[in-house]
Order: sequence, then C-alpha cells, then structure tokens
Amino acid sequence: MSLQLKSLFFILQLLALLISISSSDPNPQFPCQPPHFNSYPFCNTSLSITDRAQSLISLLTLEEKIHQLSNNASGIPRLGIPPYEWWSESLHGVASNGPGVNFNGYVKAATSFPQVLVTAASFNRTLWFKIGLAIGIEAKAMYNVGQAGLTFWAPNINIFRDPRWGRGQETPGEDPMVVSAYAIQFVKGFQGGSWRGSGELIDRFERKRALGGYNDDESGDRLMNSACCKHFIAYDLEKWKNFSRYSFNAVVTKQDMEDTYEPPFRSCIQQGKASCLMCSYNAVNGVPACAQGDLLQKARNEWGFKGYITSDCDAVATVQEYQNYTRKADDAVALVLKAGMDINCGSYLVRHTRTTIEEGKLQDKDIDRALLNLFSVQLRLGLFDGDPRKGQFGELGPQNICTIEHKMLALEAARQGIVLLKNEEKFLPLNRNVVSSIAIIGPMANNISNMGGDYTGFPCDPKSFYEGLLGYVEKASYASGCSDVPCDSDAVFNDAILTAKKADFVVVVAGLDLSQETEDHDRASLLLPGKQMTLVSSVAAASKRPIILVLTGGGPLDVSFAEGDQNIASILWVGYPGEAGGKALAEVIFGDFNPGGRLPMTWYPESFTKIAMNDMNMRANPFRGYPGRTYRFYTGNRVYGFGQGLSYTKFTYKLLSAPRTLSLSGSFTGTLTEKILHQGELDYIHVDELTSCDSLSFYVHISVANVGDRDGSHVVMLFSRAPKIFEGTPEKQLIAFDRVHTSSYGSTETSIIVIPCDHLSIVDKHGKRILPLGEHLLTLGDLEHSVSIVT
Ligand SMILES: *[C@@H]1O[C@H](CO)[C@@H](O)[C@H](O)[C@H]1NC(C)=O
Ligand SMILES: *[C@@H]1O[C@H](CO)[C@@H](O)[C@H](O)[C@H]1NC(C)=O
Ligand SMILES: *[C@@H]1O[C@H](CO)[C@@H](O)[C@H](O)[C@H]1NC(C)=O
Ligand SMILES: *[C@@H]1O[C@H](CO)[C@@H](O)[C@H](O)[C@H]1NC(C)=O
Ligand SMILES: *[C@@H]1O[C@H](CO)[C@@H](O)[C@H](O)[C@H]1NC(C)=O
Ligand SMILES: *[C@@H]1O[C@H](CO)[C@@H](O)[C@H](O)[C@H]1NC(C)=O
Repeated sequence: MSLQLKSLFFILQLLALLISISSSDPNPQFPCQPPHFNSYPFCNTSLSITDRAQSLISLLTLEEKIHQLSNNASGIPRLGIPPYEWWSESLHGVASNGPGVNFNGYVKAATSFPQVLVTAASFNRTLWFKIGLAIGIEAKAMYNVGQAGLTFWAPNINIFRDPRWGRGQETPGEDPMVVSAYAIQFVKGFQGGSWRGSGELIDRFERKRALGGYNDDESGDRLMNSACCKHFIAYDLEKWKNFSRYSFNAVVTKQDMEDTYEPPFRSCIQQGKASCLMCSYNAVNGVPACAQGDLLQKARNEWGFKGYITSDCDAVATVQEYQNYTRKADDAVALVLKAGMDINCGSYLVRHTRTTIEEGKLQDKDIDRALLNLFSVQLRLGLFDGDPRKGQFGELGPQNICTIEHKMLALEAARQGIVLLKNEEKFLPLNRNVVSSIAIIGPMANNISNMGGDYTGFPCDPKSFYEGLLGYVEKASYASGCSDVPCDSDAVFNDAILTAKKADFVVVVAGLDLSQETEDHDRASLLLPGKQMTLVSSVAAASKRPIILVLTGGGPLDVSFAEGDQNIASILWVGYPGEAGGKALAEVIFGDFNPGGRLPMTWYPESFTKIAMNDMNMRANPFRGYPGRTYRFYTGNRVYGFGQGLSYTKFTYKLLSAPRTLSLSGSFTGTLTEKILHQGELDYIHVDELTSCDSLSFYVHISVANVGDRDGSHVVMLFSRAPKIFEGTPEKQLIAFDRVHTSSYGSTETSIIVIPCDHLSIVDKHGKRILPLGEHLLTLGDLEHSVSIVT
C-alpha cells in the first residue's frame, strides 16, 4: 500500500470507529428526558434545588421512598427515573472497587495516580488540586458514557495513627494539618467548583494561590462530581488480635478528638465543601459512628455541611450484629436515621424500614429528611437535567481519559512523592554515561500489579520498575530474589546474587504489597516481610559496589539494618507510586529529577508493635509506659521522622522577618484579669474569648537558599511549640508548609502566615482550644525564633 492509501485507510478506520461509538452508544436512560418525563417540576431547572427535591419527594409512595435508601437505589419507572448506583470509588484514580464503575465499555482504563500517601509526600497543594481535578474529569467522562456514577467515596482522611494500619496507605499521613490541606485540595478539584474548562480553573486557582487565599466566592451549588469525606470518625484499625473494625469501640479523649481526629473532617467540609460524609463501622466511646447524632449534627450545624451522609457498607447492620448496640434490626434503623444518616450502603434499610415505621419507631418525615439530602445532591450534580451529554461537562468523554496531560501528571506526582532517606557520599544520582549495566532485584521489581496500592482501577499505561530502567541503560537485568512479597523461601536467592554480581550497579526493591497491608488486614510486624531482609543484605554483600535499596508499601518499615549497612549506599521510599512509578524511579536514580518528597508519617522501630493497636490515645503516658503517637506526641526512638527526606542539593534558611511579641490587648472584651486563667505557672486564655483573632495574624518571611549544584524543590515546614508546662502540649506542631523550587546557588523568598488562634493554640483536657501566654517557639530546620504572647 502506498503511504497515501495507508493514511486514507487509517482515516476510514477512524471514521468507522467514530460512527460505531455514536450508534452503539449505551445511551443509559437519564431522568427528565423528553417527550414524556421532562415536564415534572423536579425537572425544571428554573426552580431551586430544594423546591425540586421536595417536589420529587411529594410524588413518591412510601415503598418508593424506602427503595431510595440503598446505594443501589431503585428506579421509579412511572416517573422516568432509572436506578442509580451511589457507590463509585476514586481514591487515586477512577477505581473498580465500587459497583458504580465498570471498565467493560469504551473506557478500558483510567489514569492511576500514586497511592495517596505518596502524593501527600510531595507536600504540594497545587499538585493535590490538579490530581483531584484530573480524576474528577475522568470520572465525569466515564459517567457520560454510562460507566460510572457521579457520587464517589473518596478521599480517605483518617489520621494514620498506627504504623500497622492496613489502610494508612490510602490517607495523607499522620498530621491533622497536612491531612486537612490534602482533603481541601482534592475535594475542590474533584467536585469541579464552577468549572469552565480545566485550564481556566487551574489558572484561576493559581492566581488565588498567589494572592495567598483560597476563599471560595462561588455559590457552590453545582457539582461536577460528589466527593466523600470518610470514615467519620476515629476509624483506623482493620483487624488486630481479637479487635475488628466492625465491632471496635474507639475510646477517644475530648482532647484528642478536638486536635487530631476531627480537624480533617472539619476542613473537608468547611473549606473543601464536600457533598458527602461517610460514617464508619467502629463505635466511638460506646456509640456506633453512624448513630452519633451529636457529631452528625455538628457537621451540619457548626461546619455547614450541605450534602448526604452514607454509612460505610453494611455499617447499619453492624450496629445491630457486631456492635450489639440495639436489640432489634428496627431499632438500629430508627437510631441511625434519627441521628442524621441518610443512606445505607447495603440493603439493610430497604429490608427493615417498613416494619420500623409500622412499629412507630420511625416517621415518614425522618425518611423525607434523608431524601431531601439525597435528591439535593443528585440535583446539584445535574442528574435531573436530562441527557448529561447536552449539559454542562457534557462534552467530556473517552477522549478526556488517559490523556497525555493526565499521564504526565501521574508521572509528576510519582516524582514529587519519592523520598530519599539515605545517600552516603552522594552515591546517587548515577551518571548514565558511566553505568554500563544495572541489575534490579526483588519480587516487586517487575510486577505492575503492585504499583497502585489499594483502590486501583485499570491503569492507562503502567510500567514496572524494571521497565523504567530499561529506558536508561543498555544492559539492565532482573531477578525476583523471592517468588513473592511474603518471601517465605530463599530458594531463588542464588539466582539473584549471581545476577547482582554481574552488574555494575544494583537496585534492590523490597517492602510491602497488598498481601501485607490492605483493607481488613493490618500488619503485625514493621520488619520487611519473610526473608526479604536476608535477601537485601546478601545481595548487598555480594555486589561490586554498595547497592540502592528501594522500599515499596505504605506502612512504615523498620529498616534500621539498612541504615547501618555500609553496603547499602542509598535508600529511596517509593510507596505505591502508580502507573508512572517505574519511569519516575529511573529519573530519580539517574538524576533527571531531584527528589524532594518528605515522609508524611513517623517510621517507628519494631518495638512499637508492643503497643496495643486499639489504644487511641495520641498523648504519651510515662506512668504506663505508653510512648504516644505521631511526631506530635511520640517520645520514643524512630527509624525516620515525620518530614524526613533528602535532596541531591542542600538548602539553608534565613529568617527575614517575624515578630518577637504579640499583644492580646484590644483583642478581647471585659476585664483582663477575669479572662486569664492559670495552670501552675502558665497563664492562658480560651480562644473563643478573643474577639478579633484574625487581626493577630502575622507573617514569617523567610529566604530559602539552594547551596548546591543542582536545581531542586524543597518543602519548607514551619513548626511551633507552645510553652511545655501545659498537660498534653504537643512536642511540636506543624503550622505551615510550602513546596518551593530553587535553582542551583539561587534563593527563593516565601511568606508564611501564622494565625495564632489556629496555629499557636493548643487543646485542653476538656477539648477546648486555649492560647497559652508566654514564649512560643517557631522552628524551621535548625532555625529557632520565639514569639512571646503578652497581654
Ligand atoms: C419552571 O419554573 C418556572 C418558575 O416557577 C416557571 O415559570 C416555568 O413555567 C416552569 N417551566 C415549566 C416547563 O413548567
Ligand atoms: C439493585 O437493585 C435491583 C432492583 O432495583 C436489582 O435487580 C439488582 O440485582 C440490585 N443489584 C445489586 C448489585 O444488588
Ligand atoms: C479481646 O480480648 C481481651 C482479652 O483477651 C478482652 O479483654 C477484650 O474485651 C476483647 N475484646 C473484644 C472486642 O472482644
Ligand atoms: C456481639 O454479639 C455477638 C453474638 O452474640 C458476639 O459474638 C460478639 O462478641 C458481641 N460483640 C461485642 C462487641 O460485644
Ligand atoms: C504480581 O503480583 C501479584 C500480586 O502480588 C501476584 O498475584 C502475581 O502473581 C505477580 N505476578 C508475577 C508475574 O509475579
Ligand atoms: C507543585 O506541583 C505542580 C503541579 O505538578 C508543579 O507544577 C510545581 O512545579 C510543583 N512545585 C514545586 C515547588 O515543586
């Protein structure tokens, strides 16, 4: 065939494909379609969301209403309403875990970003927002062709409290402030804001960011998709000894609730404006989370939550069957609906609501209240506006999924999230011109099914670590070392050692996959699984040069042996880096990308596993030998600390300006002496006594200098420490972070706003925020600056 004929043929093929797409389009039935079903008031877009929702409720029979209370909501054919599946998942890319998503149509794959913990390690809010938006665009595009719902149950914003937790990987880490910041950006991006094309939205976002604020001036009514803050609340244990998430009762102090467990949810709702909240399986202080009326109402009344509350899957059944909280199924149903939950994932409400009403334990109005929340979200999503392909976002389709832009963003996220933990004598980066051969060893080194972690769908174009290296060196070889991650046998160690001996440079990939940590499965040990440690040490001992150790997995690993082993020159944590992780790792190893990620959680030693996992206390208690949890309270040894991460260059700080004293006079009414409280030597004031907290805000101006010969990004982390005399004061507390880029031998200035009521306050035993008077220490790397709060 001539070239012209070939291209003509190609164009014809393309045309045929396009025609087949439009003619065999699944054309899912959408509500409010002409000619018969578009005349109801609930279809009338001129009316308010509430009026439309109420009008729809008024048309339904009790039986129809009850059948809306499940994730698999029934259709109402007489009104032209098809069934709706509420449960879709999108933790770090559209995922296949929920029944609302399928990959069996035109769309066979979606961009798979790194697992959330890795993305969190970038400490880059812009990146978080862009990922939320990219996933949101792909989700909406899949909805438009009938392959997804519009209601997604992400993000997971529980605190990564215990290193054994199987789902810690899904979260942004252990710090409430970082988790809050992630939640806000992800939700804003994913729900689309007032979307007018992704480019413009991002630009506007960047401008706002440059101006130092994210204040949302939009009405927030319309949604591209719905995001869900989960799991509310104090959920972070799957299965430990005889404890299971279904029956676990988390005993949480008021102090920990206020400054650790609640903040991410408050931010996700208040600033992120999430339209869904999911209550968890566990109980909190004896009351199942889905029956916590006070907390659910607090979300609506104090935090301004506008959206629907779903149970985790079967979390109403567990109130009855695992928590043994109610005597009968009907009581469980009445309890959760009266508490403010709106929909149950599962069929429990569909099966038991009618009898609950007949027994008088529940009234129709309780169901109408739930339906108003449910229909309002569906209406805000445009579900009752007719064919979505004719409406806002209607042009999104398969062409918006796995785009070059999104795949590049997945690569960028993996690059920014990789953390360099050890680098003896600048062993890394390798110079590609002098490396003639490289060997990569390990059970995960050439297996793409391990790249994404929990809640992964079908990635666009995944490459393994081995495949990533192939692009860089002529001779790359691979050996698994262990047949799988559990690594029970050393049968193929020799093969790995031989492969390593033949190569100039050796990379060993060790760590975790989902056989070690996942939903319903916590770890028991923090050491490398099975015989992996022996594999690493023997390969390191046999290789020509010291090796590069690459660690996978979400949970912290006790790799003290490797930190101390001279045969191991460098250690990199890649977590679950997503579909582009193979390429990102190669770029980092060969210096095409200078790593700048930081650990979003503390890496504890193995001895930490003596601590009871069900102990929810954040604060250390020396009287019972309890070391506390996370960098804010933990007093024991650590393998690597929160925020740890090296670079191929070096950075130094200069403090340009920050106040030395802060006077509260004029910031409260009434007499001073009445407002000032005392504990021992400490004077303090309740934050809610202050009338003008914002006016106390100040800036810390700093300059970051890159004093090395490579460009690089650096995460600036400002910590504060309140006077330590108060009981339960954190060791330190992250109050601001920013990722900045600085070129070699250049410097960058940045300003950090400190809002004393938010950042310098601490929480007392009653769960009240107080502002201690006296010296507060701000720390930035080795720099220290004290600010004195006076009256
Ligand atoms: C939609 O509602 C508006 C405002 O009430 C009303 O004027 C209009 O007639 C309604 N449209 C239809 C088709 O009923
Ligand atoms: C969802 O509900 C419909 C009835 O409305 C039923 O036919 C279908 O089997 C249900 N699907 C699942 C996954 O439960
Ligand atoms: C687990 O076992 C311990 C003692 O073995 C017991 O005190 C505790 O109540 C049990 N917890 C649950 C949730 O059954
Ligand atoms: C609830 O009851 C079941 C069955 O009687 C029992 O196995 C379980 O341990 C109980 N759970 C709790 C948390 O008490
Ligand atoms: C890749 O890993 C998965 C999950 O651990 C495992 O099921 C599969 O067998 C592995 N594939 C290969 C080729 O080793
Ligand atoms: C933060 O992420 C964005 C989006 O990927 C990127 O353009 C930017 O360079 C990153 N910032 C730094 C300082 O690395």
